[in-house]
Amino acid sequence: MTDSHPSDVLWLSDLHLNLVEASLVQEIVEKVAATNPRAVLITGDISDGLRVTKHLRALSRAVNAPILFVCGNHDYYHSSFAQVTKRVQALCERNRNLVWLTRMGHVELSATTCVVGHDALGDGRTDSDMDISDFLWIKDLAELSHEDRFKLLRARGEECRKHLAEVLPPALARYEHVIVLLHAPPFAEASRFRGRPSSRESLAHYLCASAGEAMWQASIAHPRADIHVLCGHCHYGADVAIPGTNIHVSVNGSDYHHPEFRLLSLR
Ligand SMILES: [Fe+2]
Ligand SMILES: [Fe+2]
Repeated sequence: MTDSHPSDVLWLSDLHLNLVEASLVQEIVEKVAATNPRAVLITGDISDGLRVTKHLRALSRAVNAPILFVCGNHDYYHSSFAQVTKRVQALCERNRNLVWLTRMGHVELSATTCVVGHDALGDGRTDSDMDISDFLWIKDLAELSHEDRFKLLRARGEECRKHLAEVLPPALARYEHVIVLLHAPPFAEASRFRGRPSSRESLAHYLCASAGEAMWQASIAHPRADIHVLCGHCHYGADVAIPGTNIHVSVNGSDYHHPEFRLLSLR
């Protein structure tokens, strides 16, 4: 990571701070603060459901800039969707530089650029027998049958589609550049595992096609603005232009114990 410019934003993904030593958490928080960016963007898997508010609070106290974030699947681990939602919302009300985009419209970064976002977890659109750890550690999913888990994943995907269908058009009408923060990639082209495209089975959990649908529609209606999607979840990096659209998807490759930071310059 190099020194920031006043127009830079810092993008972090998949920090998984619950998995690193307390001293390293402190080091990471200080490193983020020392970059002095215009804003910090976080694309989920910050921690787990028991510690996500503690880790967001530490970032909020150290960083003198807005922290715009979405949660990832791990941010609900050892807890439930409703419990984490309640705690994260309450934290954002007390710490005004924390902004959970899943619950917000667009946020302006400059006269020409704004940010929108949603948790956008894997939305179970393809059939899959994969047994993933979400089914064990997210209470809502652990309690359900296979069929009902997929119903819930798809229902949450639909919530994501509706949110983006609502917040994207006004953002695209007003700004030349719209950054979209998601946890899972919205298009299969950007979902990769060990350098190869994700298998059809794993796309059930490593793709939020619902987000892609909303973005595709908004992009057709607003062909002149550009949409830059930032996401994580796969832990394998990708930079993909979606053919026939004004959408570019960047996936942050991230090591579980050595999170990567990326500085992005605003236009
Ligand atoms: Fe992750
Ligand atoms: Fe994830």
